[in-house]
Amino acid sequence: MTGPSPQSPTVLISGCSSGIGRAAALRMAARSWRVLAGVRTAQAAAELAAASPNITPIMLDVTSPADLVAATELVTRLTAGRGLDALVNNAGICTAGPLELVPLEAWRTQLEVNVLGVVALTQAMLPLLRQAGARLATAGGSPATARIINISSISGRAALPMLGPYAASKFALGAITHALRQEVAPHHIRVCLLEPGSFDTAIWNKSTAAADALAAAADPAARAAYQPLITAVKTKIAHAAATARPLEPLIDHIERCLTAPRPPARIVVGTSSRITALAWSILPTAWTDWAIARQLR
Ligand SMILES: NC(=O)c1ccc[n+]([C@@H]2O[C@H](COP(=O)([O-])OP(=O)(O)OC[C@H]3O[C@@H](n4cnc5c(N)ncnc54)[C@H](OP(=O)(O)O)[C@@H]3O)[C@@H](O)[C@H]2O)c1
Repeated sequence: MTGPSPQSPTVLISGCSSGIGRAAALRMAARSWRVLAGVRTAQAAAELAAASPNITPIMLDVTSPADLVAATELVTRLTAGRGLDALVNNAGICTAGPLELVPLEAWRTQLEVNVLGVVALTQAMLPLLRQAGARLATAGGSPATARIINISSISGRAALPMLGPYAASKFALGAITHALRQEVAPHHIRVCLLEPGSFDTAIWNKSTAAADALAAAADPAARAAYQPLITAVKTKIAHAAATARPLEPLIDHIERCLTAPRPPARIVVGTSSRITALAWSILPTAWTDWAIARQLR
């Protein structure tokens, strides 16, 4: 097995142990990109390293300043003066529960990973992305720009009950992405925001288990007050998980954002998600509240 050539474009993807990050890492490695795959365990690193010679695992908890420093040094060394062609901010968690039952610490963790983790990793990599952007712009090839892809969610357009913490993180990510896109355009860096609906990954089971633990630890009277809502939303989430689509179309969009000469600034992935995004942007709030309450009956 040979590794990537020195001319291969390089992408750093956070959160590659499972789900979207892992599938995107395997796809881009199969396209002969050098993939620097962020993971948090030695086991995930070993599995990815064994999967392709084009994948180099990097220990990267996006909330760890020490990991960010070490990752920046490693990426600088591995890209050897060429800079980083692309960054995919994928790592994320989903904290669910009624606002009253989610402790502040859990709110902080949600925002620390999904918002400040993205900010911190992007800050760390921007000098290398600007370096690659300058190289690509003068090389005359295609694409002629470096890339940042932020994985948001339809929850960044529509906030459902019990998903306040997660939706807050993804609404914030949308705002950050729109500002960033305009800031780095002069530096030959394009920024894409992907807003997927439900795709088949471990995030559903992880967030349901975490929500159950938060509810179990809550004050019993407060928990009882929200029990009908919790039961209804859990049923909806179980349905969404059971009908979640395979990852391939979403990974196609990530590949397109990485390779197309002019990728879209924002893609809502999935037909039902596009309908949701449109409904939330044009309908009166009372109507969307009514529709959601009806679905949760
Ligand atoms: N699946 C969907 O339907 C869906 C829909 C919309 C948006 N998304 C978004 O897609 C992204 C990936 O989620 P997924 O569905 O693929 O779920 P997943 O399989 O649970 O993957 C999440 C990844 O993020 C990593 N991660 C969690 N906390 C981290 C931290 N502090 N630092 C670095 N990595 C961390 C996890 O690593 P560990 O294994 O070490 O915990 C894992 O590799 C998330 O941003 C999510 O919000 C998913």
